[in-house]
Amino acid sequence: MAPSFTNNKELKTFVFDDGHGVKGLSELKIETLPELFIQPYEKRLDMSKVVHHESIPVIDMSNPDDPEVMKHICDAAENWGFFQVVNHGVPFKVLDDVKDATKRFFSLQADEKKKYLYKNCPTKNVRLVSSFIPEVDKAYEWKDYLSCFYVSDDEAFAYWPSVCRDQLLEYMKESEPLIKTLLKVLITRLGISKLDETNEPFLMGSRRMNLNYYPICPNPELTVGVGSHSDVSTLTILLQDETGGLYVRKLNSDNWVHVPPIKGSLTINIGDALQIMSNGRYKSIEHHVVANAHENRISVPLFVNPRPSDGIGPLPQVIVRGETALYKHVLYSDYVKHFYRKSHNGKDTIEFARV
Ligand code: OGA
Ligand code: NI
Repeated sequence: MAPSFTNNKELKTFVFDDGHGVKGLSELKIETLPELFIQPYEKRLDMSKVVHHESIPVIDMSNPDDPEVMKHICDAAENWGFFQVVNHGVPFKVLDDVKDATKRFFSLQADEKKKYLYKNCPTKNVRLVSSFIPEVDKAYEWKDYLSCFYVSDDEAFAYWPSVCRDQLLEYMKESEPLIKTLLKVLITRLGISKLDETNEPFLMGSRRMNLNYYPICPNPELTVGVGSHSDVSTLTILLQDETGGLYVRKLNSDNWVHVPPIKGSLTINIGDALQIMSNGRYKSIEHHVVANAHENRISVPLFVNPRPSDGIGPLPQVIVRGETALYKHVLYSDYVKHFYRKSHNGKDTIEFARV
């Protein structure tokens, strides 16, 4: 237990109920990790499995219509499920502003942040959380995050924190051309000639943005920033700061590679929804964030999702070529509910849709 607390209940109240979060705990300068955050051995990242001679592809998006670039994107989505993009068209200033906005939000006083806890917030579309799902996590993750589901500008103006709202909305708008370009390229390989009103809703019909804060940790080797998981999105666009700490599992292997921060880049990963829609051709890949003893880290994933009310399943254009469907049709909101019912556990969510 941390020295300032006499029991676990007090510690939990401080972290989860009073708006301090894990960041508040970290700032008490505790010397040892509280037992509640100690992860079982198999949930930690085994550093002996990290390989250094390979890394995820880095793709220059200056000429996205170039067939070579298109091939590179689709190959990366099939073979790695993760890649970085540079010259992606989202202005550096927009990215810097989002990072500053994230720091501003987490620098707010606990009493201010407390307003965004699920139990205090007037909308269910905004929530500040510590760990992943404290109600179900057996051991807590060393992380705080603010999650904002986009419904409309008006809703964002009413409920998103004013210290970060404008920057997040700007980022969401400025990244739209990149998202469309990537999806267009990816569906071309699936035999769909264009992004239009028949497919846009389930490919990119809703957005969620998370502001992740991974505070300095006294015993990083005993816990995780985020446990191994795959995203439930179609695509995720991740902005990370210069700290590092995100690891990605190599396809069909037990090895992991680091995602090195590249200034101005964005990291793209395929989520479960696109793995399902592509009938397994594009891969949603397990990833994991380690805790850090020396630096606070922030990251901002933008999850591009189907609409909650959409049914998702292998696309007819894929099945028509004679493939056997590996997944059944499920309601996207049911899929997401299933994800949030349990702790992070690798790629187990997708079993929910397995035939
Ligand atoms: C996530 C995630 C990675 C990171 O929030 O789903 O995987 O680098 N984040 O923070
Ligand atoms: Ni993720």
